[in-house]
Amino acid sequence: MEQPTAASPWLLLLCLAAVATGGVPQARAQLESKGFISIDCGLPGTASYVDAGTKLSYVSDAGFTDDAAGANHNISAKYIRPQLSRRYHNVRSFPDGARNCYTLRPLVPGCKYLVRAAFLYGDYDGLGRPPIFNLHLGVNYWQTVNVSTPGSEVTAEAIVVVPDDFVQVCLVNTGAGTPFVSALELRPLKMKFYPQANLTQGLLVEHRMNLGPADETNIIRYPVDPYDRVWIPWADPKEWTEISTTRQVQSDDDDYEVPSAVMQTAVTPLNASKKNLDISWDPVPQPRNPSPGYFIVMHFSELQILPSSAVRQFYVRINGMELNMTAAKLYYHGTGVISNVKPYRYDKFNISLHATTNSTLPPIVNAIELFSVMPTSILGTDSQDVSASMAIKDKYHVQKNWMGDPCIPKTIAWERLMCSYTIAQTPRIISVNLSFSGPSGDILSSFANLKALQYLDLSNNNLTGTIPDALSQLPLLKFLDLSGNQLSGSIPSGFLKRIQDGSLNLRYGNNLNLCTNNNSCQPAKIKSKRAIKFVVPIAVTMVIVVVALTLFSSLRRKKRGSMKNSVKPQNETTNDGDTSLGLETRQLTYIEIERITNNLRHVLGKGGFGYVYDGFLEDGTQVAVKIRSQSSNQGDKEFLAEVQILTRIHHKNLVSLIGFCKDGEHMALVYEFMSRGTLQEHIVGGDHNTICLSWRQRLKIAVESAQGLEYLHKGCNPPLIHRDVKATNILLNTRFEAKIADFGLSKAFNHDNETQISTNVIVGTRGYMDPEYQTTGQPTTKSDVYSFGVVLLVLVTGKPPTLHNPQGISIIEWVQQRLAKGNIEGVVDVRMHGDHDVNSMWKAADIALKCTAQASSRRPNMIDVVLQLQECLKLEEDHAGGEANTSFYTGIYSNDQNLRYDAYPTNQSTNVSQSSTGFEMEHSFGRVPTMDNGPAAR
Ligand SMILES: *[C@@H]1O[C@H](CO)[C@@H](O)[C@H](O)[C@H]1NC(C)=O
Ligand SMILES: *[C@@H]1O[C@H](CO)[C@@H](O)[C@H](O)[C@H]1NC(C)=O
Ligand SMILES: *[C@@H]1O[C@H](CO)[C@@H](O)[C@H](O)[C@H]1NC(C)=O
Ligand SMILES: *[C@@H]1O[C@H](CO)[C@@H](O)[C@H](O)[C@H]1NC(C)=O
Ligand SMILES: *[C@@H]1O[C@H](CO)[C@@H](O)[C@H](O)[C@H]1NC(C)=O
Ligand SMILES: *[C@@H]1O[C@H](CO)[C@@H](O)[C@H](O)[C@H]1NC(C)=O
Repeated sequence: MEQPTAASPWLLLLCLAAVATGGVPQARAQLESKGFISIDCGLPGTASYVDAGTKLSYVSDAGFTDDAAGANHNISAKYIRPQLSRRYHNVRSFPDGARNCYTLRPLVPGCKYLVRAAFLYGDYDGLGRPPIFNLHLGVNYWQTVNVSTPGSEVTAEAIVVVPDDFVQVCLVNTGAGTPFVSALELRPLKMKFYPQANLTQGLLVEHRMNLGPADETNIIRYPVDPYDRVWIPWADPKEWTEISTTRQVQSDDDDYEVPSAVMQTAVTPLNASKKNLDISWDPVPQPRNPSPGYFIVMHFSELQILPSSAVRQFYVRINGMELNMTAAKLYYHGTGVISNVKPYRYDKFNISLHATTNSTLPPIVNAIELFSVMPTSILGTDSQDVSASMAIKDKYHVQKNWMGDPCIPKTIAWERLMCSYTIAQTPRIISVNLSFSGPSGDILSSFANLKALQYLDLSNNNLTGTIPDALSQLPLLKFLDLSGNQLSGSIPSGFLKRIQDGSLNLRYGNNLNLCTNNNSCQPAKIKSKRAIKFVVPIAVTMVIVVVALTLFSSLRRKKRGSMKNSVKPQNETTNDGDTSLGLETRQLTYIEIERITNNLRHVLGKGGFGYVYDGFLEDGTQVAVKIRSQSSNQGDKEFLAEVQILTRIHHKNLVSLIGFCKDGEHMALVYEFMSRGTLQEHIVGGDHNTICLSWRQRLKIAVESAQGLEYLHKGCNPPLIHRDVKATNILLNTRFEAKIADFGLSKAFNHDNETQISTNVIVGTRGYMDPEYQTTGQPTTKSDVYSFGVVLLVLVTGKPPTLHNPQGISIIEWVQQRLAKGNIEGVVDVRMHGDHDVNSMWKAADIALKCTAQASSRRPNMIDVVLQLQECLKLEEDHAGGEANTSFYTGIYSNDQNLRYDAYPTNQSTNVSQSSTGFEMEHSFGRVPTMDNGPAAR
């Protein structure tokens, strides 16, 4: 047991001497009513009144809680007594929501406050059933409010050090009736008061007794106590007698500033010869805090002028143990305090003031305060995040469950927010999704105060004004969706940088007045007719055809055992550059899928199997979540195939599977996010929101997707046939890096006997399908080569695999016809504006036609294709004169065509060597393309 220490030789004083008054509280020194918050909950509108007793002004709760939250009620008339304080006449009740809160502000962070909540049920709801509910102070449990009788006044009072410039009082519904509150009061205290209260430990006031007065109505509070502590008269006429004085009892050294009126009365044993004054007390533990520690604070002063022969000296004992070995000696009208430093944990307290043998007079005591400990060590969300999110809530009138702390407790964290939780650190808000939720007006700068934000979706609202550049300064922001609003002005320069370096995915389509040109805000019409309206790609559509159901649940269990029958990665580690390499694929529950996709909020695209949704993992990684629709008529075989393949193979040009879900009927696949969507959208999508890819970009995409296929064919053992290579199955990330997707139709085949595989069903996509496979029904790696050749032709021409004009002709035929006439420019996509190296173009077309040879034996393998395409890319890059890297544009400058084309001064008609190459190629294409004499395999 800790012994009290003395602060002054002439009195027994226990106050932890060195508690700083610390600057800020000085401002609070002249308290008066300054800094007081007095709320009469349930008072209508913005009404206020002056309380008859305290003369303090009580205001309605407007502005302290959500106007829409809760309802005001008057208590039943039969509980209104003449003496009943007016603040008990009405209540605010909160039938909806698990947690409803009041925010009290402004406070001074780090200062000490007394917070008091008052409750009188008074059958306000006519149900005659007083509720039981919990009270929280911020994120920390305060106490359980148990209003056992309708007419009783219940108060909860805490002394706390508040870390922020606000404190929240929350009523938490525990299923035992509707929480309500009559009044809330907040009073600043001096820092030196109650030194046991600090940042991690608050004090709950159990009793605050003014000993002596027998008149129970003689309650002392403000203005007699400038800090509005409520001192309840306490007497026991059978045991004690009152001693009092009319002289002021006050000491400059009193670290508690107990009012003189309280100290002017004391009790002493009725029988003056009695040596002891005993007080016993049975604490009532709180349900949530069954064994709290207690603090006892006793205030003493000698009220009588004693003759010199008289001695009043005593020990203070708690349950028989002396609080201080030195006996307390009181001085006339001086004040002293005895309290314990460390909390005591007993079920029952016997406080005994025991006179020493030398003492001629019995002990006395003037006032006692009893406290229990209220741990306040749970950290709330970062206070800047809280302030910002409260400002956002106020500005956009977000209702939902946006009450109390945004992240804590996790079970009632704010909807549409996501937080990061790290041990020993305050939670941070990392994601805010307010799409389709109606915010209007300008974009609040408070978003820029959410410094840990990674994802912000404000799409499809009624936001106006300009985009604040401050948002681009958020260091961790990866995704910002402002599309579908009425924003105006231009994209601030900060964003252009972030988009260019690939660190931010910004979507801002569907804002009619938003100028997407970096330099000026001229309407697009002024541009020449030829100008293609370039806008950064907005809609990201992931069209991946994959499907539904069976053996799935056993998949993971059998993972190792089934290796022989499935694809085995060969030299996995030698396949460079894939960040997902070696990562465990996570199995997720459907609840987790809902959490990741924010309840399937944002659709990225749709395929035969169902929808693809936008999602975010806990760490903020953006993902695409493919969910099998219940109505999908496609089997789970494809689903299974995809998981089987993707959990094993990893390559930088194959889309990575991050997790999957097989939870009852629910099936979902979680992929890395490919923000630019499909190649299809960028080539033949006809979507004017997308930029036209340059020839260099197209070649790069071709090389990368070819590498992906090469890996499937040569890097996997046994080799893997994709069976559905096409422009919609090649996805692009922010940097336009290509990855092959959709392995739902993929098949492994035995290398030793290629003809072994035979399936009854021919699968694939019209226009891309190998004619030989269609005839034989036996897919080979060369079937993928054929499909890839078609993709290459699509890249060259910008046309679909089957043309509309002339109707139904295949792109292969169309290209062959034109090239036979030596007309390369006649096949090249006009949207590239002739900005390409002709050699490179011829070579690519040649590769494409060799890949699409009718006989599979005449087609090159993917190793050759990769090598040839790399040469094409080199030609194109050399052509661009080394400027390629600096001029390679990622989309944000797309409006600025002139800039781009000036960087590629091209005039191929002056380039004789190119023409002659073209001539050679012409002859080469007069024959059936063949690559039998092509480069040897590595
Ligand atoms: C008890 O109080 C006296 C002053 O009244 C002080 O001098 C002494 O140090 C205290 N004893 C302990 C053990 O704290
Ligand atoms: C409560 O009573 C007052 C009059 O005493 C009345 O003006 C007010 O509308 C009542 N409030 C409710 C919620 O019934
Ligand atoms: C509430 O108070 C009543 C009466 O004092 C008691 O019987 C009941 O157990 C208490 N309930 C809780 C949950 O504390
Ligand atoms: C608050 O006081 C308790 C008990 O003395 C102590 O354990 C704790 O470390 C203190 N907290 C702070 C923040 O000073
Ligand atoms: C009691 O009085 C005697 C003699 O006056 C003194 O020696 C002794 O220290 C006193 N005891 C206490 C507890 O003050
Ligand atoms: C935007 O405002 C219009 C009219 O005020 C309203 O009809 C529409 O629902 C609002 N849109 C959203 C997404 O709140």
